[in-house]
Amino acid sequence: MAHGDVGLELGARVAGALRRGLGVEITPVEAVVRPSTREGADYQCNAAMSLAKRIGKAPREVAQAIVDHLDAADMVEPPEVAGPGFVNLRLRDEWLRARAAGLLGDPRLGVPAAEEPRRYALDYSSPNVAKEMHIGHLRSSIIGDAVLRLLRFAGHEVTPHNHLGDWGTPFGMLIEHLVDEGHSADTGISDLNRFYQEARAKFDADPAFAERSRARVVALQGGDEATLTLWRELVGESTRYFQKVYELLGILLTPGDIYGESFYNPYLDAVIEDLDAKGLTTISDGAVCVFPPGFANREGDPLPLIVRKSDGGYGYASTDLATARYWAAERGMSDLLYVVGMPQAQHFQMVFAASRQAGYLTDAHTAVHIGFGTILGEDGKTIRTRAGGSVKLVELLEEAVQQAAKTVAERSSLDSDRQVEVARAVGIGAVKYADLSNDREKDYVFTWSRMLAKEGNTSVYLQYANARAHSVLRKAGQEPAGEVLITEPAERALVLKLLQLPAALAATVEAYAPHKLCAYLYEAATAFTAFYDTCPVLRSDVPAETRASRLVLTKVTSDVLTLGLDLLGIAAPHEL
Ligand code: ARG
Repeated sequence: MAHGDVGLELGARVAGALRRGLGVEITPVEAVVRPSTREGADYQCNAAMSLAKRIGKAPREVAQAIVDHLDAADMVEPPEVAGPGFVNLRLRDEWLRARAAGLLGDPRLGVPAAEEPRRYALDYSSPNVAKEMHIGHLRSSIIGDAVLRLLRFAGHEVTPHNHLGDWGTPFGMLIEHLVDEGHSADTGISDLNRFYQEARAKFDADPAFAERSRARVVALQGGDEATLTLWRELVGESTRYFQKVYELLGILLTPGDIYGESFYNPYLDAVIEDLDAKGLTTISDGAVCVFPPGFANREGDPLPLIVRKSDGGYGYASTDLATARYWAAERGMSDLLYVVGMPQAQHFQMVFAASRQAGYLTDAHTAVHIGFGTILGEDGKTIRTRAGGSVKLVELLEEAVQQAAKTVAERSSLDSDRQVEVARAVGIGAVKYADLSNDREKDYVFTWSRMLAKEGNTSVYLQYANARAHSVLRKAGQEPAGEVLITEPAERALVLKLLQLPAALAATVEAYAPHKLCAYLYEAATAFTAFYDTCPVLRSDVPAETRASRLVLTKVTSDVLTLGLDLLGIAAPHEL
């Protein structure tokens, strides 16, 4: 049985009190009941302050009305008005105990599934063929995968699609280079960046090669079979490489999720026709443009979205219009999500605006650019993979596992096979968690020592807390079952925290903000550590009911940490 957000449940009670006491109608959300750090309060209601203005009463008077009419004696101790008009709410221990006991064995751990499931199309990872994935693709893969898992757990239907950069003029030179190399993919393009750079250098230095490349683009666009075969070879080699990275990272994307730019080619003409039919196109310098309202450059001139270039070719923007058309109109998705770096924010805002003008998106649709900042090196500059030589993704991830192996070996009693597995969980987990635990819109500094630290808001800390819980459960020799008792403050604090998972997940999903879940998991692990340090479980002088109760709390904690980490795409080994 899913109970959901305790704050909202209290909010509903507060709303009832206001209806009865003052004849005011508000929603449970508008009751603003939040976890409180005030002495003696678990939650506090902040609604009186804002309501007071609205209904022309003093805040304390409104707060008093809430207190007088609150029907929640089953849930909270008699409430109190505090300060300028807060209502302090302290949950009754009996209520907390019953709720906590209900979490044992509940696979959703109290989290309700969406009442009205939506249909999401989620664009993430989206690297470019014949190029190394860069840090932006790493972030997109990690964040996008967490969003996928979170939305699915919330009860929605999510279709991921990998918007591979697999089309456009560079493919002329890449194919010609492949021909020159004797078109054997494994000798030619195993080093993707080098292959791209060689082609580029030849293109710039050798006019005959440049000429062949241009002719090749025409052949490719014209559907020449021999050319398409070579193109497929390039795409295949790249996707095999990307798949390797996904597997290393534990990203759910499969080759079947690839909807590359080329996929939308058959729809591009229809996009122009739609836009023409709505009178939205303008010819500007020979190019077909749309000027969605509200976008201007510094001089105040309207900004164009170029739908067809003056040479007749289609570009990045045209493909994205076709993408919106396909997922919203043809596939019937209600929400289009794009996990792409912040530099493309304006591009997406313009694509969304034009898609609304074109009628691809209606009021029933949402379109969201889930943007993110960059990863900085310890010198404060962007970690680059482009400019040759520097950080390569696979190398970076392999290093993460090696670094983690050192940490694990230091204190582990595991055999060497398990150590390798655990090092992977710890190392890859650390890279992912470092990314996910930071507000995605901000840049963050990539520091091995910080991301692998055993203390602080790291995946390693969460994994250790979980492993400690498992070790207690293993040694107990009995299945956790029975009542939850609250005798120590640390038990009460842990129970309160465990009951906040639904609220944390709701906030995380609402803002596509995995760092909110990370912050919650860190608090939960911290509460567990305090409990572990002050509340003995297996010691012989602990009464049987207390021991059983503490085993239940230990089990639920490990379930919460395991589920939370899983929703972030991070493994939670039982032993470290
Ligand atoms: N391939 C692009 C890049 O590397 C990202 C594509 C993002 N998705 C999209 N629908 N535009 O920048």
